[in-house]
Amino acid sequence: MASVFSRRDWIKSGLLASAGTMALPHLAQAAPAAALTGPYGAVYLERHRELAHEAALAAAPQLKARLSANENPWGPSAKAKEALIKSVDTSFLYAGPVVMELRKLIAAEAGVPEDYILLGAGSSELLMASLMLYGPKGKVLMADPCYISNRDDQSDNSGMQFDKVALTKDYQYDLSAMATRVDGKTSMVYVCNPNNPTGVILPSAQLRSFCESISPKAPVLVDEAYIDYAKDIKTDSMVDCVRKGQNVIVLRTMSKLHAFAGLRVGYAIAQPAVIKELRRYCSGGFSISTPSASAALASLRDSEFQQFTLKKTAESKAYLYDFLKSAGYTWLPSSTNFVLFPLRMKGQTFLKSMMEQGVSVRRWEFDQQHWCRVSIGTLDEMKMFAQAFEKVVS
Ligand SMILES: Cc1ncc(COP(=O)(O)O)c(C=O)c1O
Repeated sequence: MASVFSRRDWIKSGLLASAGTMALPHLAQAAPAAALTGPYGAVYLERHRELAHEAALAAAPQLKARLSANENPWGPSAKAKEALIKSVDTSFLYAGPVVMELRKLIAAEAGVPEDYILLGAGSSELLMASLMLYGPKGKVLMADPCYISNRDDQSDNSGMQFDKVALTKDYQYDLSAMATRVDGKTSMVYVCNPNNPTGVILPSAQLRSFCESISPKAPVLVDEAYIDYAKDIKTDSMVDCVRKGQNVIVLRTMSKLHAFAGLRVGYAIAQPAVIKELRRYCSGGFSISTPSASAALASLRDSEFQQFTLKKTAESKAYLYDFLKSAGYTWLPSSTNFVLFPLRMKGQTFLKSMMEQGVSVRRWEFDQQHWCRVSIGTLDEMKMFAQAFEKVVS
């Protein structure tokens, strides 16, 4: 199939994409055509939707509650903020030593040697690198819906094909159907666990045996963006599959529990040979600034803050569940910092009306049903959601 994308082309399309990012409001109408070509463009399409959403938010009248991007509304830990400010003095230096210290800490936590770790400015960079590496080589197998299943793969010429398998009737990954779909053309399997947008987590034993049997045929990328919210991260994470030598790539982000969505720190844990290949499509950790890397070190060491965020998230989620129950709505059991529930009106109408009330949420449409995905905000924000919801659905 299509050959590996040259570094020069990648840099060219990357520059085009970042030029487009700067012209944010215009992106809502049209993304630059040239940026939508090549493997980078395939992923960029997804980002384009996100940016269009951001532009809509910027134009929204008096946004009271931003519940559309699964951010952590309590913000970074005090220790991370302190490290961030302190590091400004040394930020004239390239981040090398701090990034290497961060890699060391992450490797120690994951129980792997350092060459199993690849850092990025958020996990998006590493997801893109994986798609650029494996996408053009064949078909990328995934569930539908999942974090990257929304893109229209007909609208670019990346040479990438997405093979999508519907969720089961109870909105779980259909791992046995996915296993039978793996063939000689499958170049990567993407598993988002817990899944975005459903929030549902896979039984760990099932996913573990899937990784074991599928990874000799194709690399399995497990996107663990929300794993910090799972009941038992040690059991639920697939990092032990990497430790056992399987061709599994675990992706993690600090954007959620650690509240680093704007600070940008993510990482991949995979076999050293895979990390080496992925490095060809990203900056190998040097896209992280000294302040972000310093703050990341402080945040990862601050377990008190992590427990605080989990407690606050659980409180707000319990309030949301109670509210939805009293309003006669159901929802999918969430192992994340967002909840997906079925609507009784068109998603587009709902979204627009909620925005008019100053509350932003996201919408999905699958299984002949319109859905709302609402991020877990502070208790006050959830109350604003509830008030707006009552007005909109009445
Ligand atoms: C499932 C999933 N993967 C990856 C990302 C990208 O996160 P980031 O680039 O902020 O690390 C997100 C962001 O919302 C996500 O939901």
